[in-house]
Amino acid sequence: MSQKITKAVFPVAGLGTRSLPATKAVAKEMLPVVDKPLIQYAVEEAAAAGIETMIFVTGRNKNSIPDHFDKSYELETELEKSNKAELLKKVREILPPNVSCAFVRQAEALGLGHAVHCAKPLVGNEPFAVILPDDLIEDGNRGCLKQMVDLFNHEHSSILGVERVDPKETHKYGIVEHVEIAERVGRLHSIVEKPKPEVAPSNVAVVGRYILTPAIFEKIETTPRGAGGEYQLTDAIAALLKDEPVLSYEFIGNRYDCGSKFGFLLANVEYGLLHEEIKDEFAHYLRERIAKI
Ligand code: G1P
Repeated sequence: MSQKITKAVFPVAGLGTRSLPATKAVAKEMLPVVDKPLIQYAVEEAAAAGIETMIFVTGRNKNSIPDHFDKSYELETELEKSNKAELLKKVREILPPNVSCAFVRQAEALGLGHAVHCAKPLVGNEPFAVILPDDLIEDGNRGCLKQMVDLFNHEHSSILGVERVDPKETHKYGIVEHVEIAERVGRLHSIVEKPKPEVAPSNVAVVGRYILTPAIFEKIETTPRGAGGEYQLTDAIAALLKDEPVLSYEFIGNRYDCGSKFGFLLANVEYGLLHEEIKDEFAHYLRERIAKI
């Protein structure tokens, strides 16, 4: 297995119930952190990792996602007419250069494994990346996926982005058992979806970044429904690692779980403090505000 990673799958069909009522009529991936929707950060991270084809697995009420990455003639004409060159540039740069988008619908919410499998005809027989846009990762550099693609180019095997979490929180994640084989890199022995803390094999959690070999598709097809009655990607990975090595990678950077209110708020604060346009004013506000607490 030595092919380049050129395709990324974004499973974006979920209902976003954790973010209700904000997500009643708005796709959760379109919620903005400062001034950009989550899905745009995910696509930018993929492009920075060399991905050329963005594959969105969408569902009902998600039309704003293809619209966001499509050309908007009316908007561009208006901005041109009113000489808003800066804004026009921002709008035109939403889709990174040399990148194309493909869309496939997941008709039923049958789980992350099922969502990834919907992309099979578009991915074909090559290794690919999966990004869950809820997990926003900031590494001050070219991004988490780029780190993982660099590792893939050496190792040529499936890689899961992982992070140590509070042992009380294992029931929210896929949890791995691994042996360290290099700095930040482990070889998986086992993986289990959302175990209770009492039975979790460790506190090393899978975050929303995966590089998978195409053998995963057959594993998804032959793995029965798991936790929550859904086809779990985690269970298919457990089957995959019986046949081929699967690595864990402790990424450099900070992850914000934007599917939770607290994580979403943290992301807005942190990205606000990094944003060229507002960072000074925002830092000043925060200092004054905290002094009053
Ligand atoms: C999914 C995966 C889980 C993983 C998590 C990362 O769960 O099933 O293994 O740890 O994403 O965010 P979800 O958050 O969709 O319930």
